[in-house]
Amino acid sequence: MHGMTLTVDKIAILGGTPAVPDGLIKKWPPIDDTDRQMVLASLDGGKHTFGPNCQAFQEEVAAWNGNRFGIFTNSGTAALHMGLVACGVGAGDHVLVPAYSWSSSATCVIHHNAIPVFVDIDFDTINMDVDKIEAAITPRTKAVVAVHLHGLALNMDKVMAIAEKHNLQVVEDACQSHGARFHGRKAGAMGHCGAFSFNQNKCLCSGEGGMFLTDGEALRDGAAKLWSFGEVRTPLQDRDYHAYALGWMYRGNDLTAAFGRAQLKKLDGYLDIQRENAAALRAELEGVPGLILPIEPEGHWHTYYNFTVRIDMNAIGWTGEPARMREAVLKALQAEGTQASVWQRFILPAMTVFRAKNAYGKGSPWAEQDAMDVDYDPARFPVAQRHAATHFAIIMPLRAPNGPDVAKRVGEAVRKVFDKIGRIDPERILGEDK
Ligand SMILES: Cc1ncc(COP(=O)(O)O)c(C=O)c1O
Repeated sequence: MHGMTLTVDKIAILGGTPAVPDGLIKKWPPIDDTDRQMVLASLDGGKHTFGPNCQAFQEEVAAWNGNRFGIFTNSGTAALHMGLVACGVGAGDHVLVPAYSWSSSATCVIHHNAIPVFVDIDFDTINMDVDKIEAAITPRTKAVVAVHLHGLALNMDKVMAIAEKHNLQVVEDACQSHGARFHGRKAGAMGHCGAFSFNQNKCLCSGEGGMFLTDGEALRDGAAKLWSFGEVRTPLQDRDYHAYALGWMYRGNDLTAAFGRAQLKKLDGYLDIQRENAAALRAELEGVPGLILPIEPEGHWHTYYNFTVRIDMNAIGWTGEPARMREAVLKALQAEGTQASVWQRFILPAMTVFRAKNAYGKGSPWAEQDAMDVDYDPARFPVAQRHAATHFAIIMPLRAPNGPDVAKRVGEAVRKVFDKIGRIDPERILGEDK
């Protein structure tokens, strides 16, 4: 039987030996001579603002993803904001957003004085429940932020059919899902436009950064205005420095683009390694009582950006507060050296900025947009709440340069904890901690 010696060990949080030795899990992203040479060439190139690497990076990312156009930004959030504005979203419009995502999947809506309306998630995929979209549409609904969470694409056939029927624009939040596919099409290339993030944790990393993606010329032009001071000429053209519309400063810089370009050359290889590692982890965890493993529905290609596991509280016989047990389990997993983490503990409607309905002061934008009755009561999103209270993730051990041996070792460590789950007493492990 595999892992026998480890499972009989005492768990580390109760004084046993950690199952994963220090230093076994290598850090992300791997840096090699390609990165060094390209970044140094940019440094020596003398063009440090929006330069030739930026231009090349946006063309290369768009080509890699199957989009006609890309615009390199300083964050994924900027690209989302640009997407909404390019799609014509403005003051008072309602925009549908999944109840569980990164905060800026929803705050980007407020950035343009529009109003986020949340839709509960589907427990199995952790993405927006596409069967609940239509019920959330109001006469003011203009767009959907279609988030592909954790490396698993949303069912875009359903989303686009609903969008067509109700004349909605679809901005894909592919910030976590570079390379995720749905029936062969890539995240960010299925809606009207999309956004990538290149923050360090992402599968394509440039430190910080992002990309707006689209096939539409008008959408590209609309996004470009917001991106660079409301101007209509790009920094590589002969600028007239005239603000034709409200603009931000969302441009990326050349050094960052050089790093991103170097990483892009390796991205397909990284994603293959990640899937192989996810398979090795899954093989260790399949059938372990108390674990609900991530799914890859028919027609999907999951990148396992986050390998998200939920704890089945019934199966482990825990009747107390689910989040309290999850926090204790997390501590036990971390003590084993697994680098287990919890990505996002709060559902979006529970976040203060939405609950208080006050982003810019004086209740703005809800008050002046006559949107005080939009309901953010977290109780309306029970599936998102259940997920948020019970999940943990294995992320970095599955990233290159780690291989299946590391993933297997981490899997054994998770099993070790779940084999002894009865010994995990949140009162003892967490004490007064909340
Ligand atoms: C789903 C999702 N949307 C948006 C973002 C925002 O990206 P950035 O941090 O590059 O602004 C992130 C990541 O941070 C994300 O995970």
